Amino acid sequence: RKEMEETSARVMEMVELVPVTRAHALEDEEVAKMSGQLFAVAEKGYKLDLIQALFGSVGWAVFQIFQVICLAFTGYLAIGGKIQAGDITLYQSYFATVVNQVSSIVTLLPTIAKGIESVNSIGEVLLSEDIEDNEGKEKLEQVTGTFDFEDVCFHYKNNEHNVLNHLNLHVKSGETIALVGESGAGKSTILNLVIGFNQAESGKVLIDGKDISKIDLRTYRKHLAVVPQTSILFSGTIRDNITYGCENVSEEELQKVIKAANLSNLIASLPKGLDTMVGEHGGKLSGGQRQRISIARALIRNPKVIVLDEATSALDSISEKLIQQALNNLTEGRTTFIVAHRLSTIRDADRIAVIADGRCAEYGTYEELMALQGEFYQLKQIQS
Ligand SMILES: Nc1ncnc2c1ncn2[C@@H]1O[C@H](COP(=O)(O)OP(=O)(O)OP(=O)(O)O)[C@@H](O)[C@H]1O
Ligand SMILES: [Mg+2]
Repeated sequence: RKEMEETSARVMEMVELVPVTRAHALEDEEVAKMSGQLFAVAEKGYKLDLIQALFGSVGWAVFQIFQVICLAFTGYLAIGGKIQAGDITLYQSYFATVVNQVSSIVTLLPTIAKGIESVNSIGEVLLSEDIEDNEGKEKLEQVTGTFDFEDVCFHYKNNEHNVLNHLNLHVKSGETIALVGESGAGKSTILNLVIGFNQAESGKVLIDGKDISKIDLRTYRKHLAVVPQTSILFSGTIRDNITYGCENVSEEELQKVIKAANLSNLIASLPKGLDTMVGEHGGKLSGGQRQRISIARALIRNPKVIVLDEATSALDSISEKLIQQALNNLTEGRTTFIVAHRLSTIRDADRIAVIADGRCAEYGTYEELMALQGEFYQLKQIQS
């Protein structure tokens, strides 16, 4: 029971983590980690199946015998004149009702067994090949981090509306580009094109001049770090959450990352330090602390490319400052795509792209766009 509950919690967390797992090309590691627990559950499930099969067949026989005995008993009573012959059917149907109720409880057990089976398929989902075909594609050993969107069009399958409509965008290596625009403008969609979760319908997305649809995405993603809009932590220690997917991290490296992510004070204040359990979904930490752990997780990969969907939730100014510093440390010298909501992030970006009507409506530095007094200027007027 306990194992099953634990596993289902782990599976839930794992499912939530899937975007991060895949974006960081860690599918194999995750499956290996999970399979131990899955086997334990599978064994439990197998035993349960056996018991249930036994219970089911023996139960059926017992019920049948029970009814025969009842029939004999009522028959005996009828012969003795205690009840009328017609009442036998009545009593038989009572007995049948009782038997049905009991057996319906028994049939609940297969449902439980099915639950266990579905656990097994999670691994298959992660590794499923039809989502992505990397076989035989060019492997990227090195990534410089230059991106080109050339006339990219994109719409979601279940939606006719063109989210991206001939989008053109050039991002230099090492540059931070802030994507701004109204809700639903397509900012997250662009990030998913960068990760390779979305594929351009027409036009091209080029990384270092190579068409992203023609490269082995797993090799590219080794150089990529993703910081999602909501920080996704799993139950475990702070250390586990930071080093997720990175083995053999030296203590020195870890300390450097903790400092850069502005986590030193937090960790020093905890009795167990790095080995503090964060609780389910990191529930024992504040939103700002979770975000900084997310940033540390990105930093430790020492990526070439960063994809960051800034959280919209408001933070107090101290927390915001801590995150801002951590972000600056993260993005330095790396190509960064950031969906920016905070003014400070927008100001710190090298370039700003205003996304509207499925394309890049305005592009330039903060000063340039403010001077232009166009869409960006208006967006800022509304916000402040
Ligand atoms: N998985 C999906 N399936 C179908 N339509 C989608 C899907 N994801 C997004 N869309 C649609 O595509 C459009 C762009 O969505 P996107 O998430 O890129 O917007 P966004 O600019 O990131 O917005 P926000 O600032 O609110 O996060 C929206 O109209 C949205 O309804
Ligand atoms: Mg979004």
